[in-house]
Amino acid sequence: MIKYADFRNTKVRYSDKGKGRVIVLLHGFLESLEIFDEFSEKLSKRFRVISIDLPGHGQTPAIGYVHSMELMAECVKLVLDSLTLRKYVVVGHSMGGYVALAFAELFPQNVSGLCIFHSTAMPDSEEKKKDRERVMQIVKKDHTQFVSDLIPKLFAQENISLLKKEVVKAKQIALTTPKEGIVSALRGMKERPSRELVLKNAMFPILFIIGKQDAILAWENLLLLTSLPKRSFNIILEHSGHMGFYEALDETFKALRKFTGMCFRNQ
Ligand code: MLT
Repeated sequence: MIKYADFRNTKVRYSDKGKGRVIVLLHGFLESLEIFDEFSEKLSKRFRVISIDLPGHGQTPAIGYVHSMELMAECVKLVLDSLTLRKYVVVGHSMGGYVALAFAELFPQNVSGLCIFHSTAMPDSEEKKKDRERVMQIVKKDHTQFVSDLIPKLFAQENISLLKKEVVKAKQIALTTPKEGIVSALRGMKERPSRELVLKNAMFPILFIIGKQDAILAWENLLLLTSLPKRSFNIILEHSGHMGFYEALDETFKALRKFTGMCFRNQ
């Protein structure tokens, strides 16, 4: 069911499906809660799944000049508090993972487990920061070409023709992301700090989902982070790029179901 919560004078759109223990799904850059339609449908047979349009994405309007990862995490907390939820497993895809890490830093007592889904605790390199600036200039003029070029790169080459429907859907969602939302998120990602300490100090288990064909975040670098948490789990998807919930739906669903069950059993 689609619902709304108020955050800083804007309406935050989210979906709430299923019953029981809670999983929170946070989408990536240029995505919306709809990116998780199939994934959340499967998870909701077993858990209550909350999926949120982050500020400046989907149908949640942009709030400010910079959408820092902390601001987005506060928005997520507001939604969860409005439902009087206290403990949950937080799953963040890519930029959603940066938000999930900021959330875990700000509100560790609410986190039963964290899933870093094609994401990283490392900040942007200097080169990446420069690239964010370049992309901001392009997007301010016209974001359609940038989006059309980027989306296919999120999928492993071998999956592009197999997952035509999913590529089209990801593109449609990205094209409807408002320009201000794109630029504010780029500024927020560019200034995000390292959150290696969040991984290191976490009192809850952490699952890393890593795609071996990921063109956005190199799998070797992500694998290094898996040694930081005390209770660390990982799956490496041989045939997946940056979109494991499409490219390896069954595998990622089963891994997350098992991980979530374990997080709640161990409380
Ligand atoms: C994402 O998919 O959320 C972005 O590619 C993350 C990023 O640009 O760092």
